[in-house]
Amino acid sequence: MEVIILSGPEAVAELATDVIVALLARQPDSVLGLATGSTPMQTYGRLVDRHRAGEVSFADTTAVLLDEYVGLPAGHAQSYRRFIERHFAELVDLPEASLHGPDGFDISVEAISTAGSRYEELLQRVGGVDLQILGIGSDGHIGFNEPGSSLGSRTRMKTLTDQTRRANARFFDDQLDAVPRHVLTQGVATILDARHLLLLATGASKAEPLAGAVEGPITAMLTASALQMHPHVTVIADDSAATSLQYGGYYRETYRHKPAWQSL
Ligand code: PGA
Repeated sequence: MEVIILSGPEAVAELATDVIVALLARQPDSVLGLATGSTPMQTYGRLVDRHRAGEVSFADTTAVLLDEYVGLPAGHAQSYRRFIERHFAELVDLPEASLHGPDGFDISVEAISTAGSRYEELLQRVGGVDLQILGIGSDGHIGFNEPGSSLGSRTRMKTLTDQTRRANARFFDDQLDAVPRHVLTQGVATILDARHLLLLATGASKAEPLAGAVEGPITAMLTASALQMHPHVTVIADDSAATSLQYGGYYRETYRHKPAWQSL
C-alpha cells in the first residue's frame, strides 16, 4: 500500500483529481468506480472544474457505483445514483447510459434477489474497474461491507449497522427512521477486482479505522483491512485522519523521496 499524508481535505482532493485526470489522459475509455459520501465530494467538484476548463473529458468513460440503498424510490435525492448524477455525472460530459449502479429501486422479490448477480455481470461486461475511489466508514467499512462481511463477498444485499445509519442520517434531515436499513453493495472481493484502489480519508473520525485498515490485522471486522491483499492501493489521508498511524513518519518520508518517474 502506498500511504500519502497531506495537509488537509483540499490537498487530498487535489491529488485524487490529478490521479483520475492522468488516468483518463492515458486511457479515455477507463471504467471509473465512484463512491458516495462526504469524502470524495471535493474530488468530484474539482473534476467538474477541470472538465469545464477543457482539461478532461468523460465522453468515453464508464462510471460504476459502489453501492446503493434498497427501497428508495428511483430518483430519490439521497439515492446514490441521484447523488452522483447531481454532484458529478450531470455536470460533465459522461453519457447518461455510461453510468451504472446496483438496482436497489425495484424491490420485487424477483428483482432484488438477482440484483447482486446482475450487477456482477454488468461489471464483467464493462471489463472491470480501472480505478475505484473508496471512502472508509467510521466502522472500517468499504462500500457498505459492514463488520463481519466475508472478505470473499460479491455484490449482494447487506443490513446497515446502527453506527452507519446514524452517520448517514445527516443526509436525511437527521431523521434516523428515513435512512434505509438495507443496501446493495459491491462485495469485498468485487472491490479487490478493481485494478487500482484509491482510498481517501479525511478528518479525525477516520483516524482509528484508517490505522486498522493500513496497519491492523486483515479481518472481516474491519473490511477496509482487506485492501492489504491488493497489489495496487493508494491511500490519501489528511493529517487528522493519519494521527493513529504507527508508521506515519515513514510514509511521509517515503512520499517526500518518491522518485519523479514513479506514478501513483
Ligand atoms: P463519508 O463516508 O465519506 O461520508 O465519511 C465514508 C463511508 O461510509 O464509506
